[in-house]
Amino acid sequence: MFQNVKYYPGDPILGLMEQYKQDSRSQKVNLGVGVYYDDTGHVPVLECVKTVESQMVEKHLPHEYLPMEGFPGYRQACQKLLFGSEHEAIKTNRIATIASLGGSGALRIGAEFIHQWFPQAKTYVSDPTWGNHISIFEGAGIEVHKYPYYDPETIGIKFTELKQFFLQLEAGSIILLHPCCHNPTGIDPTHQQWDEILDIIQQKQLIPFMDIAYQGFGDDIDTDTYAIRKAVDMGLCIYVSNSFSKNLSMYGERVGGLSIVCPTAEEARLVQSQLKFTIRRLYSNPPAYGGNVVDRVMNNSQLFQQWEQEVYIMRDRIRAMRSRLYEVLQAKIPERDFSYFIKQRGMFSFTGLSPQQVNRLKKEFGVYLVENGRMCMAGLNTSNIEYVANAMAEVLK
Ligand code: LMR
Repeated sequence: MFQNVKYYPGDPILGLMEQYKQDSRSQKVNLGVGVYYDDTGHVPVLECVKTVESQMVEKHLPHEYLPMEGFPGYRQACQKLLFGSEHEAIKTNRIATIASLGGSGALRIGAEFIHQWFPQAKTYVSDPTWGNHISIFEGAGIEVHKYPYYDPETIGIKFTELKQFFLQLEAGSIILLHPCCHNPTGIDPTHQQWDEILDIIQQKQLIPFMDIAYQGFGDDIDTDTYAIRKAVDMGLCIYVSNSFSKNLSMYGERVGGLSIVCPTAEEARLVQSQLKFTIRRLYSNPPAYGGNVVDRVMNNSQLFQQWEQEVYIMRDRIRAMRSRLYEVLQAKIPERDFSYFIKQRGMFSFTGLSPQQVNRLKKEFGVYLVENGRMCMAGLNTSNIEYVANAMAEVLK
């Protein structure tokens, strides 16, 4: 009966994690999946999270159903983080926001909405992008194409090609953008480049879909939203998917959000109703545990400040690892320029390693990178960095 079912060979990122877990070598290093590990190699439970978890256990909160769109405090917290607490769009109720199952869930709900209400719209993603962007949008029935982005020659952005590409797109096309910490390259547009990109988007009536999964890991929590806030200030209608997986270290609790900024409060009301309908049909309502944690941390000023500091500790540790890797590799192979390690931002570095070199790292050294050469810098620590640098130098010879 099921003999014609096609086998799914697995995901290039999550499949790698499965392989890593099965690897019995003690010196193995996981630099594949986008997860922050602390200097001892563990996924941290943030102190602000521990505080609210203790409160929650003490209270024995009942396991009730949540509203389809999630806790009101959670949704307000998403809006304030993304748009700034005093933003006119928030005050005038022009933003439809739902809690989602992580950033992936937000992307999928957004894609479902686009497919239903704008069925002709094609989506354009950066070349390269996080592979699941393509799967999620195609899975919702949307045609996906790539726009020029990464330039391996300069280890920068193909900015002229990108602009030319956007200029010839049909009005209403969806442009998937990474407001900060581009995944997988770690290369972000400058503020001036964002201004130029958004001018073209406005001029050509394109629709930005901004996916922000690493807020706080680039510059800081507010500055990382530059492109989002600028777009809203320009009066653009935008979709924003956000995630607390990384910046609250709540990966398994699936905490994210989708916000759609609309021209009027009435349109936001209509959009909100449809997002709820989509949720009802897909999974009815979100799980409460992670939602409760986010709500309680983000809406308590003391815990919020503590959270910000904890995000910056993670950000700074990644930066320190970037500098150290750069120093060690540069000293080992002086003829090659490794400065990209310190220029790239966020968790990821596009190393330029070929699939063969990545494979050698895995097979010979137990060092796991994504096949496209993406390395998660947050998997490096003071105990493994020399080992990884030596292994990389070996395969680069
Ligand atoms: C990543 O890019 O590694 C993360 O976003 C995790 C994932 O789901 O792929």
